Amino acid sequence: MDNTILFSEAESAAENSYSPYSKFRVGAALLCKDGEIIKGSNIENRSFGLTNCAERSAIFTALSKGQTEFTALAIYAPDADYPVSPCGACRQVISEFTDSSFPIFFAGNDKKYRESTIGELFPFNALDELKDK
Ligand code: THU
Repeated sequence: MDNTILFSEAESAAENSYSPYSKFRVGAALLCKDGEIIKGSNIENRSFGLTNCAERSAIFTALSKGQTEFTALAIYAPDADYPVSPCGACRQVISEFTDSSFPIFFAGNDKKYRESTIGELFPFNALDELKDK
């Protein structure tokens, strides 16, 4: 599968980051089953705990538009010189809407995307049993 467009969408999403506090921009691009790509960026707040990561921005936007099935997620962090994978909260949210084989690609400023899966990043998901109930 060629992920060139998905990656460039994640890279363009980082331009919409609102991160005046951390100065750490993140962009995410979520590929939906029907081919639509939904972008998300990290949105910070002066009440720091209200920050929303790029990954959750993308998922919440997609769900709000009626998208429910997802094929892949790409994350780009231009201010990092290492690949930035989703935080624990985002892993939990991603796992709510995907199977364990769901692919996640992530890169820092070198744009060398690593590939993982939500099952690898969020193993032993005991809350799986509550899915689809
Ligand atoms: N952040 C994301 O948006 N996604 C990640 O995967 C890592 C962290 C954001 C949260 C905060 O705005 C900034 O990056 C620094 O942690």
